[in-house]
Amino acid sequence: MAQFSAPTRTFVRAEGNYLFDARGQRLFDAISSVWTIVHGHCHPRITGAIAAQARLLDHSTLLGATHPRAEELAERLCAITGLQRAFFASDGASAVEASLKIALQYWQAVGQAWRTRFVHLVDAYHGDTAGAMSVSDIARFKARFSAITFETRCLGEAVDETEVAAFIVEPVVQAASGMRTVPAEKYESLQRRSALLIVDEIATGFGRTGTMFASERLGLQPDMMCLGKSITGGALPLSVTMVSERLYDAFLGASEAHKQLFHGHSYAGNPIACAAALANIELFEQERSLEHVTGLVPALHAGFDAFRALPAVRDVRSAGLMCGIEIDPHRVRAQDARTAGWSVADALYDRGYFTRPIGDVVQFVPPLSTNAMEINGFCGALREVVSG
Ligand SMILES: Cc1ncc(COP(=O)(O)O)c(C=O)c1O
Repeated sequence: MAQFSAPTRTFVRAEGNYLFDARGQRLFDAISSVWTIVHGHCHPRITGAIAAQARLLDHSTLLGATHPRAEELAERLCAITGLQRAFFASDGASAVEASLKIALQYWQAVGQAWRTRFVHLVDAYHGDTAGAMSVSDIARFKARFSAITFETRCLGEAVDETEVAAFIVEPVVQAASGMRTVPAEKYESLQRRSALLIVDEIATGFGRTGTMFASERLGLQPDMMCLGKSITGGALPLSVTMVSERLYDAFLGASEAHKQLFHGHSYAGNPIACAAALANIELFEQERSLEHVTGLVPALHAGFDAFRALPAVRDVRSAGLMCGIEIDPHRVRAQDARTAGWSVADALYDRGYFTRPIGDVVQFVPPLSTNAMEINGFCGALREVVSG
């Protein structure tokens, strides 16, 4: 926080793919406000759905009750994910926590209570709450909190699978560890498993990698899928743990059997957020968003090829519109007490592009509604910054 400068990064308005700061500068949102914005900021279909729903029913709980928007959204999500039930929450980490608890309780319900271990990818990130941190693998985020996290294993490490409750994976891209792309072979062993599979599509879901869900191209049949971030098109907090019918059935029984999941959040499945999510999903069809992203990939690759050869660029990786450009910190002039990554982000800000580094990796994750001109503009600005 000592280096954070609020006056230069206070956003007061947004429109389409742009944010406007308090000084009146217009900035291209090159990280989709941390992987949330899909069809552009303040899309009239989404803000319209929000306004209409806010007038009709602002909030009612999903604890022992329901409402039409949650029902409709659950139905839509089942249709697009291939899973059969939806358990709503508010933030991504809450959906991950729910998935871990569902996995543990499922095995208790079917008489295999000894299955308590979780296995994740190397460099995994699943959120900042205690359970989500436990199944994450980035030391910087979790090392200090060992007192409240539990022991886990990385995929590939020795583990007795009969003790495993679930594998949890980010499909194709590990966003928080620096937009790392994971080869498809890494997931192959998960085709044959006795434990459950949780696919965390919180960062990759809703078209970011070019398909609606990144896991589609891995041929995995997950038992649970966590969704969040882009689910509302980026307008409001909402998340969901999608589960299979097999899991859902294990939680049914007479009330005295206490088979239900004792887990819930006050704003889970808020009606206004659900209305935004329904509008977001409709927009994918109306705006042909996935075809649009496919059409942008050549422009993206052309732009990246131009700076791949620069001495200051160590690596360029991308899947759809999730891109990371790793810079060599020794070849970029750091300003003041800023890291090389932040110095690049600051210089891009001055040129009208808002991004945020992850260590030495400059992120480029624009809204799906971006165009070739904006992509070329970002690539040109970055080329200028890292060559200068
Ligand atoms: C793959 C993944 N899972 C979970 C989360 C946590 O989501 P939230 O920040 O909404 O709690 C994130 C956040 O970046 C993420 O990238």
